[in-house]
Amino acid sequence: MKGAISLIVLALSFLHTTTILAQCEAPVPCKDAELNRLNTTDCQTYHAFIARGSDSGYPGHLGGLIKLICHNFTSEDSETTCGYENIVYPANSTAWGKDAWCKSATIGAEAGQAQMKAYAERCLDAKLIVLGFSQGGSVVLDVLGGGGGEVFECVQGDTPAMDRSTAPGSNVVAATVFGAVRRSPSQPYSLKGGRNYSGTASRSAAQLAGLAPYADILRDYCNQGDPICAVGSEPVDVARHLDYFELYNEEAKDFVVRTARGERVGVGEEEEGNGTASGTEVTRASGTPTPSATQWNSQEAQGGASVGRSVNMIVIGGAFGAMMLL
Ligand SMILES: *[C@@H]1O[C@H](CO)[C@@H](O)[C@H](O)[C@H]1NC(C)=O
Ligand SMILES: *[C@@H]1O[C@H](CO)[C@@H](O)[C@H](O)[C@H]1NC(C)=O
Ligand SMILES: *[C@@H]1O[C@H](CO)[C@@H](O)[C@H](O)[C@H]1NC(C)=O
Ligand SMILES: *[C@@H]1O[C@H](CO)[C@@H](O)[C@H](O)[C@H]1NC(C)=O
Ligand SMILES: *[C@@H]1O[C@H](CO)[C@@H](O)[C@H](O)[C@H]1NC(C)=O
Repeated sequence: MKGAISLIVLALSFLHTTTILAQCEAPVPCKDAELNRLNTTDCQTYHAFIARGSDSGYPGHLGGLIKLICHNFTSEDSETTCGYENIVYPANSTAWGKDAWCKSATIGAEAGQAQMKAYAERCLDAKLIVLGFSQGGSVVLDVLGGGGGEVFECVQGDTPAMDRSTAPGSNVVAATVFGAVRRSPSQPYSLKGGRNYSGTASRSAAQLAGLAPYADILRDYCNQGDPICAVGSEPVDVARHLDYFELYNEEAKDFVVRTARGERVGVGEEEEGNGTASGTEVTRASGTPTPSATQWNSQEAQGGASVGRSVNMIVIGGAFGAMMLL
């Protein structure tokens, strides 16, 4: 188990550092000018709330997606405005202690609801979009459907669902999560090859009932082999927890903008051909089942271009090390 954890840490460190610049996920101030321009609490036509993954910087892995979404809205109509705010929560991984994840997720669920409520009271006509990754994906599901329960080695406090029929719930026009920690299999909004597996914990019947009114405007992305959202699916590959944005940003943008404009998009309808069909998985270069730490190393070593850099990166990554772990 210990070996498995350090393998995950190692791999995540590597993958993390290779994508820092592109997505503003490092725990340092974001230098992406376009993203920073979109970061606002002003009243807008479309306003997104983003919950980042564990130990990431703001806004984290969803930075690329929100740029695509806002670009789409604003370039089609000069009157339309679009931006995002971060759901402000610590995003602590389990590396911070046994209870840290649960405390963090509870803060996230409460903060997300409070921020959305405050925004919707100020900006009556705003159309709200909610996006989250990993712990943040779990937080977004909690914000909408209610949260709480055991996960990892802790118990997350209970938080209520958001009523769909009154503000801010009635202002929500689209929501998308990727690699969520607490998720249940085979829901109407589940997507990709991990969809029939449970996450690290599953959601209670009451929490699923809380999500049901949002089903039409929700997508829950989970890759086969993602050890966080699709526990028990094979081959386990931590890369599958991190490649959502590389693989699906375009189709997720398509879902969000069409749904937010009031179109009813069927599950899977927005998917683009290769490797992204809901029943099929991307064929990865390394088909090794359940890799050991050494196999991982050699897979990375064979992975090409970044190998030389990855050696340094892994050392630097030690500090962030545990970080993306959920
Ligand atoms: C976005 O705005 C908030 C609040 O003004 C700020 O705390 C945060 O650092 C900003 N930048 C990013 C990348 O989130
Ligand atoms: C959570 O992470 C923050 C840094 O983001 C840290 O300052 C804080 O001490 C952590 N909280 C817990 C409970 O570990
Ligand atoms: C998930 O389950 C559904 C039926 O519940 C089935 O049609 C689908 O093929 C399954 N998908 C995967 C990837 O196993
Ligand atoms: C906006 O997104 C829709 C749906 O994906 C697409 O059809 C349209 O071409 C996009 N427009 C722009 C300007 O990107
Ligand atoms: C899918 O990708 C593979 C390898 O990248 C390629 O060989 C194949 O032609 C692609 N198929 C389609 C339908 O685009």
